[in-house]
Amino acid sequence: MTAHRLDGAALAADLRGRVAAEVARLGTAGIRPGLAVVLVGDDPASAVYVGSKKRQTVEVGMRSIDHVLPASTSEDDLLDLVRTLNGDPEVDGILVQLPLPPHIDSARVLVAIDPDKDVDGFHPVNAGRLATGMAGLVPCTPQGCVRLAKAALPDLAGLEAVVLGRSNIVGKPVAQLLLAESCTVTVAHSRTRDLPAVCRRADILIAAVGRPEMVRGDWIKPGAVVIDVGINRVPDPAGGKGRLVGDVLFAEASQVAAAITPVPGGVGPMTIACLLANTLQAACARRGLPAPGI
Ligand code: GUN
Repeated sequence: MTAHRLDGAALAADLRGRVAAEVARLGTAGIRPGLAVVLVGDDPASAVYVGSKKRQTVEVGMRSIDHVLPASTSEDDLLDLVRTLNGDPEVDGILVQLPLPPHIDSARVLVAIDPDKDVDGFHPVNAGRLATGMAGLVPCTPQGCVRLAKAALPDLAGLEAVVLGRSNIVGKPVAQLLLAESCTVTVAHSRTRDLPAVCRRADILIAAVGRPEMVRGDWIKPGAVVIDVGINRVPDPAGGKGRLVGDVLFAEASQVAAAITPVPGGVGPMTIACLLANTLQAACARRGLPAPGI
């Protein structure tokens, strides 16, 4: 069997198109959603990521408000900026790019963000809303994973889902989302006994461990849907900057699965598209407008 390749770039473009249409509709009422992105320091990967966010925010018709601060910025100054953005009526979403320089306590900064502007969905209030089934802002990468899984299997109810990885940013929230879709969810991790056997139970396997090509073909149930969150750079025998691989060995897994996301071009493009959808959702909620059905 050769798996269907789940095209994250195409699904992300479709989602951005629907966000742009809603933004245009809000524009007729004089509303233009604004996303503030805060970058501290000069990490090259973060700068590339923030650049893509800025470009795509503007492309869907939203306002991009950028704050680039030196690596020497104090925690207190960053907290002051977050509080200013919390109180700014032009700002609907706030994203503080991670990682922050080591002298800044990321957890303190993330909890300072107004939960209703927390478009990353990292605030404990949004984690609690997700866990209890309340409306809230859902972390972008987990949201992208479930949108991709539903593109392959529109009804996930009753299916066995295995989430490999238990991070606050991906593993735990994606498990909550799958539970909300009525899956039977197992969260597996580095201390799980017999990982291959646990993964083989999965109708939907979400791999989010950050270990290059750890998941082999014989870990996969025939006909499963495989969502690969990993983005790992490994040396390329041909030289250069190396090549990107996921947490799943694609060549093997694609012979067993029914559908699988590639790396790159799978989950990655969905993350920013979901960030834009969250900003639109926050802009509507803050004005008492109904949540856009995107
Ligand atoms: N750094 C890498 N990915 C992300 C993300 O999704 N949000 C934030 N805030 N920082 C990141």
